[in-house]
Amino acid sequence: MAPSVFLTGATGYIGGSIFHTLVTTHEDYDITVLLRNPPGNFSLLYPNVEIVKGDFDNARVITAAAKKADIVIHCGNSDHEPSIKAIIAGLAQRKEKSFLIHLSGTGIVSDFRDPKYLGELNPKVWSDVDDLEAITSLPDDAPHRITDKIVLAAAAEHGDKIKTAIMCPPDIYGAGRGPGKKQSVYLPVYLMEIKQTRAPFFTGSGGNTRSWVHISDLMNLYMKVVEAAAEGGGKAHWGKEGYYFASTQEVSQIDVARVAGKILMEDGLPINPEPKCLSLEEIAKKVSHVPFPDVATYLFASSSRTKADRATKLFNYAPSAPSLLEAMVDDFDACKIFIL
Ligand SMILES: NC(=O)c1ccc[n+]([C@@H]2O[C@H](COP(=O)([O-])OP(=O)(O)OC[C@H]3O[C@@H](n4cnc5c(N)ncnc54)[C@H](OP(=O)(O)O)[C@@H]3O)[C@@H](O)[C@H]2O)c1
Repeated sequence: MAPSVFLTGATGYIGGSIFHTLVTTHEDYDITVLLRNPPGNFSLLYPNVEIVKGDFDNARVITAAAKKADIVIHCGNSDHEPSIKAIIAGLAQRKEKSFLIHLSGTGIVSDFRDPKYLGELNPKVWSDVDDLEAITSLPDDAPHRITDKIVLAAAAEHGDKIKTAIMCPPDIYGAGRGPGKKQSVYLPVYLMEIKQTRAPFFTGSGGNTRSWVHISDLMNLYMKVVEAAAEGGGKAHWGKEGYYFASTQEVSQIDVARVAGKILMEDGLPINPEPKCLSLEEIAKKVSHVPFPDVATYLFASSSRTKADRATKLFNYAPSAPSLLEAMVDDFDACKIFIL
């Protein structure tokens, strides 16, 4: 029988892309979404999808919806503790087995709080297979760690009944597919800051390197894991081993800056296309509109290098979408109307 799915974050970039992909590839799935502000045309676009109205702090609403679901796909805010706890409370009340697919992110292994490699290449590349022990016991102040811990604790306590997976994408690019947000975070923010600096920028040697994934490739991985859940577990790993990096490539900050400069120069924008070296102090003052400590250091000076070993081994996961450097021109095109 087709599964019932409860999904959060359907108007967001990642959650919306998962939602749209799921609705269009699995029309038989019985899908319910949590929305705090349903877009006016939502039911016209998705007439077979049930809406539960509420936000992430409405624990009772979330618990009740999770209790009815064979599969919960939680997106939207990887750091929100009450919502993930409310989902687990609902799943724990079920008699039948269920699946929880939680969204985390490779910010968890970023070196942004350690000055050693800021602006430089950190040689450490994290594997979701070989480094599983380290990844699942990182300190509490690592980004997304608190909610990862809640999910891992649920797997340890209810592992016979609640099968969990933690999806851990790196930075994402490419146009979102859902009914709401179509853009990711990094490239629009970088463009906004280039506008201020009047040049693409980096710090140190610009060798700091981050992993990336195109939203389409990430959707391929999500579908493999959701479809495995729909089969009762399939060949996916669940519980402590159900930890999935999704990276398909690595790009250094200096390469991002070089390509950004070339694209913006060809667009005739009044910027110097030559990447400009900023001090760490200058970098740290950027992105002042985001109330997240060290956000600019995280985005522009850190490394977070990851390999999707589990997905490669289980699902032959491999990229089919354009690379970041190939796709950047389209991502800039999509957001420059709002920014420049
Ligand atoms: N984008 C990336 O490159 C990336 C990579 C790895 C990890 N992540 C993590 O993934 C998470 C989602 O990222 P995203 O880029 O998809 O975010 P996004 O586009 O801003 O989407 C957020 C979604 O969550 C919903 N939402 C947020 N707070 C809510 C609340 N209190 N109650 C109900 N719904 C709420 C939003 O609904 P509304 O439409 O009502 O606002 C929207 O549907 C973030 O925590 C981020 O750190 C992102």
